[in-house]
Amino acid sequence: MNNDYQLYKLYELYNFRTQASGRFLNIMNNKKNMRILITGANSQLAKSILELEVFPKENLFLASKNTLDITNRKKVFKLISKLKPEIVFHFASMTRGDECAKDPKKAYLINVTGTKNVVDACKIYMSSILFISTNEVFDGKKKAPYTENDKPNPVTVVGSTKYDAEKYIKKNLTKFYIVRTSWLYSKWSSNFLHAVFSKARENREIELVEDEIGSPTYSLDLAVAIKKLIFLKKYGIYHLSNAGNVSRLAFAKKAFEIKNIKNIKIIPIKLENYLRLSKPPLFTALDNNKAKRLGIILPNWKSALKRFLNSKV
Ligand SMILES: NC(=O)c1ccc[n+]([C@@H]2O[C@H](COP(=O)([O-])OP(=O)(O)OC[C@H]3O[C@@H](n4cnc5c(N)ncnc54)[C@H](OP(=O)(O)O)[C@@H]3O)[C@@H](O)[C@H]2O)c1
Repeated sequence: MNNDYQLYKLYELYNFRTQASGRFLNIMNNKKNMRILITGANSQLAKSILELEVFPKENLFLASKNTLDITNRKKVFKLISKLKPEIVFHFASMTRGDECAKDPKKAYLINVTGTKNVVDACKIYMSSILFISTNEVFDGKKKAPYTENDKPNPVTVVGSTKYDAEKYIKKNLTKFYIVRTSWLYSKWSSNFLHAVFSKARENREIELVEDEIGSPTYSLDLAVAIKKLIFLKKYGIYHLSNAGNVSRLAFAKKAFEIKNIKNIKIIPIKLENYLRLSKPPLFTALDNNKAKRLGIILPNWKSALKRFLNSKV
Protein backbone atom coordinates (compact mmCIF):
# COMPACT_ATOMS: atom_id res chain seq x y z
CA MET A 1 0.00 0.00 0.00
CA ASN A 2 1.59 3.32 -0.92
CA ASN A 3 1.59 6.28 1.45
CA ASP A 4 -0.86 8.38 -0.50
CA TYR A 5 -3.32 5.53 -0.45
CA GLN A 6 -2.84 5.05 3.29
CA LEU A 7 -3.41 8.75 3.84
CA TYR A 8 -6.53 8.64 1.72
CA LYS A 9 -7.91 5.68 3.67
CA LEU A 10 -7.27 7.48 6.95
CA TYR A 11 -9.15 10.55 5.88
CA GLU A 12 -11.98 8.35 4.74
CA LEU A 13 -11.96 6.37 7.95
CA TYR A 14 -12.09 9.36 10.25
CA ASN A 15 -14.47 11.27 8.07
CA PHE A 16 -12.28 14.31 7.81
CA ARG A 17 -13.94 16.70 5.45
CA THR A 18 -12.40 19.48 3.44
CA GLN A 19 -14.13 22.79 2.99
CA ALA A 20 -12.97 23.75 -0.45
CA SER A 21 -13.23 21.18 -3.19
CA GLY A 22 -9.80 20.32 -4.48
CA ARG A 23 -8.04 21.13 -1.22
CA PHE A 24 -7.51 17.46 -0.49
CA LEU A 25 -5.73 16.98 -3.80
CA ASN A 26 -3.58 20.03 -3.10
CA ILE A 27 -2.53 18.49 0.20
CA MET A 28 -1.61 15.27 -1.53
CA ASN A 29 0.39 17.16 -4.16
CA ASN A 30 2.26 19.13 -1.51
CA LYS A 31 3.15 15.99 0.38
CA LYS A 32 6.82 15.39 0.42
CA ASN A 33 9.33 13.51 2.44
CA MET A 34 9.52 15.72 5.45
CA ARG A 35 12.19 14.84 8.02
CA ILE A 36 10.58 14.81 11.43
CA LEU A 37 12.22 14.53 14.83
CA ILE A 38 9.92 13.44 17.66
CA THR A 39 10.91 14.23 21.25
CA GLY A 40 9.19 12.16 23.92
CA ALA A 41 8.98 9.20 21.55
CA ASN A 42 7.41 7.00 24.23
CA SER A 43 4.47 9.34 24.69
CA GLN A 44 1.03 8.07 23.79
CA LEU A 45 0.83 10.67 21.03
CA ALA A 46 4.12 9.56 19.44
CA LYS A 47 2.91 5.95 19.59
CA SER A 48 -0.35 6.97 17.93
CA ILE A 49 1.56 8.62 15.10
CA LEU A 50 3.58 5.45 14.64
CA GLU A 51 0.60 3.12 14.83
CA LEU A 52 -1.37 5.06 12.25
CA GLU A 53 1.64 5.24 9.97
CA VAL A 54 0.61 8.77 9.07
CA PHE A 55 4.22 9.55 8.18
CA PRO A 56 6.64 7.26 6.35
CA LYS A 57 8.74 5.54 9.01
CA GLU A 58 12.00 6.30 7.25
CA ASN A 59 11.36 10.04 7.73
CA LEU A 60 10.72 9.82 11.46
CA PHE A 61 13.53 10.16 13.98
CA LEU A 62 12.33 8.97 17.33
CA ALA A 63 14.00 10.31 20.45
CA SER A 64 12.81 8.95 23.76
CA LYS A 65 14.11 10.31 27.07
CA ASN A 66 16.94 7.75 27.01
CA THR A 67 18.21 9.03 23.68
CA LEU A 68 17.43 12.67 24.22
CA ASP A 69 16.82 14.20 27.61
CA ILE A 70 15.54 17.60 26.53
CA THR A 71 16.92 19.22 29.67
CA ASN A 72 20.42 18.43 28.36
CA ARG A 73 21.03 21.44 26.13
CA LYS A 74 24.23 20.09 24.60
CA LYS A 75 22.56 16.86 23.54
CA VAL A 76 19.57 18.70 22.11
CA PHE A 77 21.83 20.88 19.97
CA LYS A 78 23.97 17.92 18.94
CA LEU A 79 21.01 15.88 17.73
CA ILE A 80 19.20 18.71 15.96
CA SER A 81 22.41 19.90 14.28
CA LYS A 82 23.02 16.36 13.05
CA LEU A 83 19.51 15.61 11.82
CA LYS A 84 18.48 19.08 10.69
CA PRO A 85 14.82 18.06 10.73
CA GLU A 86 12.34 20.11 8.80
CA ILE A 87 10.08 19.98 11.83
CA VAL A 88 10.36 18.85 15.45
CA PHE A 89 7.27 17.29 17.01
CA HIS A 90 7.99 18.34 20.56
CA PHE A 91 5.98 15.92 22.71
CA ALA A 92 8.43 15.39 25.60
CA SER A 93 6.80 16.74 28.70
CA MET A 94 5.93 16.34 32.33
CA THR A 95 2.26 15.88 31.67
CA ARG A 96 0.44 14.76 34.78
CA GLY A 97 -1.06 17.58 36.81
CA ASP A 98 -0.43 16.05 40.22
CA GLU A 99 3.21 15.21 39.47
CA CYS A 100 3.81 18.76 38.29
CA ALA A 101 2.16 20.17 41.42
CA LYS A 102 4.28 17.89 43.61
CA ASP A 103 7.54 18.95 41.97
CA PRO A 104 7.07 22.35 40.26
CA LYS A 105 10.83 22.82 39.81
CA LYS A 106 11.11 19.62 37.83
CA ALA A 107 8.00 20.57 35.84
CA TYR A 108 9.61 23.91 34.99
CA LEU A 109 12.88 22.24 34.05
CA ILE A 110 11.23 19.80 31.63
CA ASN A 111 8.35 21.87 30.28
CA VAL A 112 9.99 25.27 30.07
CA THR A 113 13.79 24.91 30.10
CA GLY A 114 13.60 21.72 28.02
CA THR A 115 11.35 23.44 25.49
CA LYS A 116 13.67 26.47 25.37
CA ASN A 117 16.55 24.13 24.48
CA VAL A 118 14.55 22.62 21.64
CA VAL A 119 13.34 26.02 20.41
CA ASP A 120 16.83 27.57 20.46
CA ALA A 121 18.21 24.65 18.44
CA CYS A 122 15.28 24.86 16.00
CA LYS A 123 16.01 28.55 15.51
CA ILE A 124 19.66 27.94 14.64
CA TYR A 125 19.09 24.94 12.41
CA MET A 126 15.93 26.39 10.82
CA SER A 127 13.53 23.68 11.88
CA SER A 128 9.90 24.46 12.58
CA ILE A 129 8.23 23.08 15.70
CA LEU A 130 4.94 21.50 16.60
CA PHE A 131 4.46 21.88 20.33
CA ILE A 132 1.62 20.28 22.26
CA SER A 133 0.10 22.50 24.89
CA THR A 134 -2.89 22.05 27.11
CA ASN A 135 -6.42 23.20 27.91
CA GLU A 136 -5.00 24.00 31.35
CA VAL A 137 -3.50 27.26 30.07
CA PHE A 138 -7.02 28.59 30.78
CA ASP A 139 -8.48 29.32 34.19
CA GLY A 140 -11.78 27.54 33.55
CA LYS A 141 -13.99 30.50 34.42
CA LYS A 142 -15.46 30.93 30.95
CA LYS A 143 -18.87 29.43 30.28
CA ALA A 144 -18.28 28.57 26.61
CA PRO A 145 -15.51 26.62 24.83
CA TYR A 146 -12.18 28.45 24.73
CA THR A 147 -10.96 29.80 21.41
CA GLU A 148 -7.39 30.59 20.39
CA ASN A 149 -8.22 34.28 20.96
CA ASP A 150 -9.03 33.81 24.64
CA LYS A 151 -6.35 34.98 27.00
CA PRO A 152 -4.64 32.21 28.96
CA ASN A 153 -4.56 32.51 32.72
CA PRO A 154 -3.20 29.23 34.05
CA VAL A 155 -4.04 28.18 37.59
CA THR A 156 -2.07 24.92 37.70
CA VAL A 157 1.64 24.14 37.47
CA VAL A 158 1.20 22.10 34.32
CA GLY A 159 -0.82 24.95 32.76
CA SER A 160 1.62 27.70 33.72
CA THR A 161 4.72 25.80 32.55
CA LYS A 162 3.06 25.00 29.21
CA TYR A 163 2.02 28.65 28.85
CA ASP A 164 5.56 29.85 29.57
CA ALA A 165 6.79 27.45 26.87
CA GLU A 166 4.16 28.78 24.44
CA LYS A 167 5.28 32.37 25.02
CA TYR A 168 8.91 31.45 24.40
CA ILE A 169 8.04 29.71 21.14
CA LYS A 170 5.98 32.66 19.91
CA LYS A 171 8.77 35.09 20.77
CA ASN A 172 11.57 33.12 19.13
CA LEU A 173 10.17 31.27 16.13
CA THR A 174 8.02 32.22 13.19
CA LYS A 175 7.35 28.72 11.92
CA PHE A 176 5.54 27.09 14.80
CA TYR A 177 2.37 25.20 15.55
CA ILE A 178 1.14 25.34 19.11
CA VAL A 179 -1.56 22.70 19.43
CA ARG A 180 -3.65 22.78 22.57
CA THR A 181 -5.40 19.56 23.36
CA SER A 182 -7.12 18.05 26.38
CA TRP A 183 -7.89 14.86 28.30
CA LEU A 184 -5.78 12.74 25.95
CA TYR A 185 -6.34 8.99 26.07
CA SER A 186 -5.13 5.92 24.23
CA LYS A 187 -4.36 2.28 24.89
CA TRP A 188 -0.78 3.17 25.82
CA SER A 189 -1.23 5.27 28.89
CA SER A 190 -2.93 4.72 32.19
CA ASN A 191 -5.43 7.52 31.94
CA PHE A 192 -8.79 8.54 33.38
CA LEU A 193 -10.64 5.71 31.60
CA HIS A 194 -8.26 3.02 32.82
CA ALA A 195 -8.57 4.37 36.37
CA VAL A 196 -12.36 4.41 36.16
CA PHE A 197 -12.58 0.85 34.85
CA SER A 198 -10.16 -0.54 37.39
CA LYS A 199 -11.90 1.22 40.30
CA ALA A 200 -15.25 -0.07 39.08
CA ARG A 201 -13.87 -3.62 38.83
CA GLU A 202 -12.51 -3.47 42.36
CA ASN A 203 -15.27 -1.72 44.26
CA ARG A 204 -18.33 -1.53 42.05
CA GLU A 205 -18.56 1.95 43.56
CA ILE A 206 -16.90 5.05 42.28
CA GLU A 207 -16.80 8.77 42.97
CA LEU A 208 -16.90 10.89 39.84
CA VAL A 209 -16.62 14.63 39.39
CA GLU A 210 -19.78 16.11 37.90
CA ASP A 211 -18.75 19.72 37.38
CA GLU A 212 -15.36 19.45 35.65
CA ILE A 213 -16.04 19.85 31.95
CA GLY A 214 -13.61 19.26 29.11
CA SER A 215 -13.09 17.82 25.65
CA PRO A 216 -11.72 14.25 25.83
CA THR A 217 -9.41 13.48 22.93
CA TYR A 218 -8.51 10.13 21.43
CA SER A 219 -4.85 10.39 20.61
CA LEU A 220 -5.23 8.54 17.28
CA ASP A 221 -7.63 11.27 16.13
CA LEU A 222 -5.17 13.93 17.22
CA ALA A 223 -2.40 12.20 15.24
CA VAL A 224 -4.49 12.37 12.06
CA ALA A 225 -5.34 16.03 12.66
CA ILE A 226 -1.65 16.87 13.18
CA LYS A 227 -0.78 15.26 9.89
CA LYS A 228 -3.29 17.39 8.09
CA LEU A 229 -2.29 20.57 9.89
CA ILE A 230 1.40 20.39 9.09
CA PHE A 231 0.86 19.87 5.39
CA LEU A 232 -1.36 22.94 5.22
CA LYS A 233 1.61 24.98 6.46
CA LYS A 234 -0.59 27.51 8.23
CA TYR A 235 1.48 28.21 11.29
CA GLY A 236 -0.03 29.41 14.55
CA ILE A 237 -1.99 28.31 17.60
CA TYR A 238 -4.71 25.68 17.20
CA HIS A 239 -7.15 23.92 19.47
CA LEU A 240 -7.43 20.27 18.48
CA SER A 241 -9.63 18.05 20.60
CA ASN A 242 -12.45 15.68 19.81
CA ALA A 243 -15.56 17.75 19.16
CA GLY A 244 -18.02 18.54 21.94
CA ASN A 245 -17.54 18.56 25.68
CA VAL A 246 -18.63 16.54 28.66
CA SER A 247 -18.20 16.21 32.43
CA ARG A 248 -15.90 13.56 33.91
CA LEU A 249 -19.02 11.90 35.31
CA ALA A 250 -20.91 11.77 32.00
CA PHE A 251 -17.77 10.64 30.16
CA ALA A 252 -17.35 7.67 32.52
CA LYS A 253 -21.07 6.84 32.35
CA LYS A 254 -20.89 6.74 28.57
CA ALA A 255 -17.87 4.43 28.76
CA PHE A 256 -19.74 2.05 31.10
CA GLU A 257 -22.73 2.11 28.75
CA ILE A 258 -20.60 1.29 25.68
CA LYS A 259 -18.91 -1.60 27.52
CA ASN A 260 -22.28 -2.71 28.91
CA ILE A 261 -20.98 -2.52 32.48
CA LYS A 262 -23.89 -2.38 34.89
CA ASN A 263 -24.46 -2.29 38.63
CA ILE A 264 -21.82 0.30 39.33
CA LYS A 265 -22.71 2.68 42.11
CA ILE A 266 -21.69 6.14 40.96
CA ILE A 267 -21.31 8.84 43.58
CA PRO A 268 -21.32 12.31 41.97
CA ILE A 269 -18.96 14.76 43.65
CA LYS A 270 -17.93 18.35 43.08
CA LEU A 271 -14.43 19.20 41.88
CA GLU A 272 -13.85 21.28 45.03
CA ASN A 273 -14.37 18.14 47.12
CA TYR A 274 -12.08 15.96 45.02
CA LEU A 275 -8.87 15.79 46.97
CA ARG A 276 -5.82 15.89 44.76
CA LEU A 277 -2.63 17.87 44.57
CA SER A 278 -3.50 19.75 41.42
CA LYS A 279 -6.97 21.21 41.19
CA PRO A 280 -7.78 21.45 37.46
CA PRO A 281 -9.84 24.33 36.13
CA LEU A 282 -13.61 23.72 36.08
CA PHE A 283 -14.49 24.37 32.45
CA THR A 284 -11.82 24.00 29.78
CA ALA A 285 -13.64 22.71 26.73
CA LEU A 286 -11.81 23.77 23.58
CA ASP A 287 -13.37 25.39 20.55
CA ASN A 288 -11.97 23.80 17.38
CA ASN A 289 -13.46 26.22 14.87
CA LYS A 290 -10.17 27.72 13.69
CA ALA A 291 -8.94 24.28 12.59
CA LYS A 292 -12.38 23.47 11.20
CA ARG A 293 -12.15 26.45 8.87
CA LEU A 294 -9.01 24.83 7.41
CA GLY A 295 -10.94 21.60 6.87
CA ILE A 296 -9.62 19.81 9.95
CA ILE A 297 -12.66 18.38 11.67
CA LEU A 298 -12.13 15.97 14.53
CA PRO A 299 -14.86 13.43 15.27
CA ASN A 300 -17.18 13.92 18.22
CA TRP A 301 -15.94 12.64 21.60
CA LYS A 302 -18.69 9.97 21.74
CA SER A 303 -17.74 8.35 18.45
CA ALA A 304 -14.06 8.52 19.41
CA LEU A 305 -14.79 6.84 22.74
CA LYS A 306 -16.76 4.08 21.01
CA ARG A 307 -13.91 3.43 18.57
CA PHE A 308 -11.41 3.33 21.39
CA LEU A 309 -13.44 1.02 23.61
CA ASN A 310 -14.38 -1.28 20.78
CA SER A 311 -10.75 -1.64 19.81
CA LYS A 312 -9.14 -2.15 23.20
CA VAL A 313 -9.22 -1.38 26.92
N1 LIG B 1 -2.20 13.51 28.41
C1 LIG B 1 -3.02 14.56 28.37
O1 LIG B 1 -4.15 14.54 28.84
C2 LIG B 1 -2.53 15.83 27.70
C3 LIG B 1 -3.37 16.95 27.68
C4 LIG B 1 -2.92 18.10 27.07
C5 LIG B 1 -1.66 18.15 26.48
N2 LIG B 1 -0.86 17.06 26.54
C6 LIG B 1 0.48 17.15 25.95
O2 LIG B 1 0.50 16.34 24.79
C7 LIG B 1 1.81 15.79 24.62
C8 LIG B 1 1.67 14.30 24.50
O3 LIG B 1 0.98 13.84 25.65
P1 LIG B 1 1.05 12.33 26.08
O4 LIG B 1 -0.04 12.10 27.10
O5 LIG B 1 1.12 11.50 24.86
O6 LIG B 1 2.46 12.34 26.83
P2 LIG B 1 3.02 11.25 27.82
O7 LIG B 1 2.46 9.92 27.45
O8 LIG B 1 2.85 11.77 29.21
O9 LIG B 1 4.56 11.23 27.46
C9 LIG B 1 5.43 12.26 27.75
C10 LIG B 1 6.81 11.73 27.38
O10 LIG B 1 7.78 12.73 27.68
C11 LIG B 1 8.92 12.05 28.15
N3 LIG B 1 9.79 12.91 28.95
C12 LIG B 1 9.63 13.33 30.21
N4 LIG B 1 10.69 14.08 30.59
C13 LIG B 1 11.54 14.10 29.55
C14 LIG B 1 12.81 14.69 29.34
N5 LIG B 1 13.44 15.38 30.27
N6 LIG B 1 13.39 14.50 28.13
C15 LIG B 1 12.80 13.79 27.16
N7 LIG B 1 11.60 13.19 27.31
C16 LIG B 1 10.97 13.37 28.49
C17 LIG B 1 8.37 10.91 28.98
O11 LIG B 1 9.36 9.91 29.11
P3 LIG B 1 9.30 8.91 30.37
O12 LIG B 1 8.00 8.19 30.24
O13 LIG B 1 10.49 8.05 30.15
O14 LIG B 1 9.36 9.78 31.58
C18 LIG B 1 7.19 10.47 28.15
O15 LIG B 1 7.53 9.46 27.23
C19 LIG B 1 2.63 16.22 25.83
O16 LIG B 1 3.41 17.34 25.48
C20 LIG B 1 1.57 16.61 26.84
O17 LIG B 1 2.02 17.58 27.76
C21 LIG B 1 -1.27 15.89 27.11
